[in-house]
Amino acid sequence: MTASTDTQSDGGLAGSAFLAAARGETPSHTPVWFMRQAGRSLPEYLKIREGVGMLESCMDADLVTEITLQPVRRYGVDAAIFFSDIVLPLKAVGVDLDIKPGIGPVVASPVRTLADVEAIPDLTPDHVPFITQAVQQLVAELGSTPLIGFAGAPFTVASYLVEGGPSKEHAKTKALMFGAPDVWDALMRKIAGIAADYLRIQVQAGASAVQLFDSWAGALTPGDYSEHVMPHSARVLAAAGELGVPRIHFGVGTTNLLGLMAEAGADVVGIDWRTPLADGIARVGDRAVQGNLDPTLVFAPTDVMTARAAEIIDAGRAAKGHIFNLGHGVIPSTDPGQLKALTEFVQAYPV
Ligand code: CP3
Repeated sequence: MTASTDTQSDGGLAGSAFLAAARGETPSHTPVWFMRQAGRSLPEYLKIREGVGMLESCMDADLVTEITLQPVRRYGVDAAIFFSDIVLPLKAVGVDLDIKPGIGPVVASPVRTLADVEAIPDLTPDHVPFITQAVQQLVAELGSTPLIGFAGAPFTVASYLVEGGPSKEHAKTKALMFGAPDVWDALMRKIAGIAADYLRIQVQAGASAVQLFDSWAGALTPGDYSEHVMPHSARVLAAAGELGVPRIHFGVGTTNLLGLMAEAGADVVGIDWRTPLADGIARVGDRAVQGNLDPTLVFAPTDVMTARAAEIIDAGRAAKGHIFNLGHGVIPSTDPGQLKALTEFVQAYPV
C-alpha cells in the first residue's frame, strides 16, 4: 500500500507496520525502509540537487521535505528518514565544516584540546528552525507513513571532528580517547548533548521514531566501547526514550558490540550485513532488530536478491520484532528498480 492510499483511508499512524515492529507488536507485514533511501541512487534527487551544495540543501526546509518524500513516493516504503546529515547540527551551531562530494564531512579546524571542545556551542531550536519546519511539513505530507529522525552518535561524530575528515583507522580519535581522557570526556558529553537536543527537536516537531547512527563504532573493542563510548550513547538514547518514541541504534562491523549497543538503550538494534541475522538476534536479547541484506545484493539478479531477502525475513521471525533494511546504506549506483522490487517482495512476503 502506498503512503498516499494510506493517507486517504487513515491519516494516523495507528496501523504503521514499522512502528508495530519497532515496539515488538505484530505488524500486518514485515516493514521495510532503506538507509540512504534518499540520495544519489535516485535521478529525481540528482536533478533537484543540481547546483545546490549538500549542506545548503539540508538547511532548506522545502528541499529537505521534497528529498525525504522522493523515495517514499517511488518505493512505498514503510518509513521515511529525514534528509539531513550527522554533521548538520555541528554546522548549525557554527563549526566550520563542509560535506565534499565523494569524500564526506571535512572539518576546517579539527578538535584536539579542551578549549576546542568548549568553543562548540550547545544546540538550541533557534539554530535549526529549518529542521522544525521541514519535520512539520513532512509529517503533514506523509500521513500514515512514520518519519524517522536521526542523529550521529558521539563516537562517529567525534571521529569527523578529531580527524578533520573521513578516516579508516580513526587513529587520532582513539589517540585522544586513550591519551587525553578529560578532553575525550568533554567532547563526548558535548556531542551527546547536541545529539539529544537534535533528536528532541525532531520528535517535538513530529518525528515518530529515531535512529542513532554509530557507523564507525565497529572500530572499537567491546572493552573500549563500554568504557569510553557507551555511557555517552546511553545518555542520548535515554533522552530520546523520555520522548516515548522507538529508538534504533545502528553501527557497521559491530558483531562483537551488538549486546552492548542493545544495552545502551535501544528498542531496535540495527545489524549490518556481515552478521547473520540469527546471530545478531541472539546477541541483542529481547529487542527488535533491523536489517540486514548486503547492499551489494541489489546488483544481483532480482530472484537472487529476493531469495536472500526471504532468508532474512524467515530468520527475523525469531526476534521480538523485525524491520527489513539493508545492512548499510544504499550504494549510489543502485538501480531504483531493484529497490522497488525488493520493497514489494518484502511487503508481500507472509508474516
Ligand atoms: O536517506 C537517508 O538515509 C537520509 C540521509 C542521510 C545522509 N547522511 C545524507 C547524505 C543520513 C541518515 C546520513 C547519515 C550519515 N552521514 C552517516 C551515518 C550513516 C552511514 O552511512 O553510516 C555518516 C557516517 C555520514 C557522514 C557522511 N556524509 C558520509 C560518509 C557521506 C558520503 C560521502 C560521499 O559523497 O560518498 C556524507 C554525505 C552525504 N550524506 C550524502 C548524502 C545523500 C551524499 C552527498 C551528496 O548527495 O552530494
